[in-house]
Amino acid sequence: MDIKKIAVLGAGQMGNGIAHVCAQSGYEVKMRDIEQQFLDKGLATIKGNLDRMLKKSKITQVDADATLRRIKCVLDLKEAVKDADLVIEAIPEIVKLKLDTWKDVDAAAPASAILASNTSSISITQMAAVTKRPQKFIGMHFFNPVPVMGLVEIIKGQATDDATVDVIKAVATKVGKQTVVVKEAPGFAVNRLLVPALNEAVFAIQEGITTVEDMDLAIKLGLNWPMGPLTLLDFVGLDTALYIADYFVDEFKDSKYRAPALLRKMVRAGWLGRKSGRGFYDYSTNPPKPGRF
Ligand SMILES: NC(=O)c1ccc[n+]([C@@H]2O[C@H](COP(=O)([O-])OP(=O)(O)OC[C@H]3O[C@@H](n4cnc5c(N)ncnc54)[C@H](O)[C@@H]3O)[C@@H](O)[C@H]2O)c1
Repeated sequence: MDIKKIAVLGAGQMGNGIAHVCAQSGYEVKMRDIEQQFLDKGLATIKGNLDRMLKKSKITQVDADATLRRIKCVLDLKEAVKDADLVIEAIPEIVKLKLDTWKDVDAAAPASAILASNTSSISITQMAAVTKRPQKFIGMHFFNPVPVMGLVEIIKGQATDDATVDVIKAVATKVGKQTVVVKEAPGFAVNRLLVPALNEAVFAIQEGITTVEDMDLAIKLGLNWPMGPLTLLDFVGLDTALYIADYFVDEFKDSKYRAPALLRKMVRAGWLGRKSGRGFYDYSTNPPKPGRF
């Protein structure tokens, strides 16, 4: 199947990045959000990112102009998906919202269109089941920031067929990403490893084994991570990390994924990381000051 037209649902952090890389790779893109202000913000982010790439000579002015020309912003869902070959959904991680949206998309998109969700955790099989084309439903998990990160995890739901996997592999390759294919399971491949690793870093702090700054330094230099696990947790958001850890325990029924009490306590205190100004580091100072626990 030849993909030419892509509808991207959601113009937020992930949606505008996905629209950007698809348009830059030659696809005609319709980016849909529920309010004009969100579309404007998403498009402004894309323009800012293209400008940065232009300044670094990674693209030419012609590339940047052509990329923007290929992106059409739309508010109406039917208009967005009516002629799409592929729909990529990047709307908030709320089960009911995704299920309702997929029912509407299934009714409005051509029967031949492939439906892909960028969900971080919600079951692909559960979403596929509300459509009449579960064999054409798939997980297409990009990483943040999309224009920079090199991976797409492809997630096969229970009914996803191999032809759909092949098409999504080809699209991901065309937008410059490498792919891994995983069967549906909580956390797919990357978060399944990352979340327990981040939990362990917090357990080590909770047990007083080392300090925040030394744990970050150890993992940065010892494992060559671009940032330490506690800095990363502050970026991700401690509430999000806790949500995923709790979700893993629920889904796997295995206590090895349990969140450290310290993480839960910090979330209860409103210490959510960068977004709240305080997490494992205190962001009221420059440079941020590591906390003592
Ligand atoms: N943020 C990350 O690091 C990350 C990484 C990988 C995957 N994801 C997943 O990507 C999805 C989107 O996350 P995000 O971080 O971009 O969220 P976000 O909050 O930045 O953006 C979501 C956007 O969707 C819009 N929206 C809400 N309902 C909509 C609808 N019915 N139709 C179209 N747009 C709608 C919102 O107005 C918002 O602009 C989630 O499923 C998330 O789990 C996020």
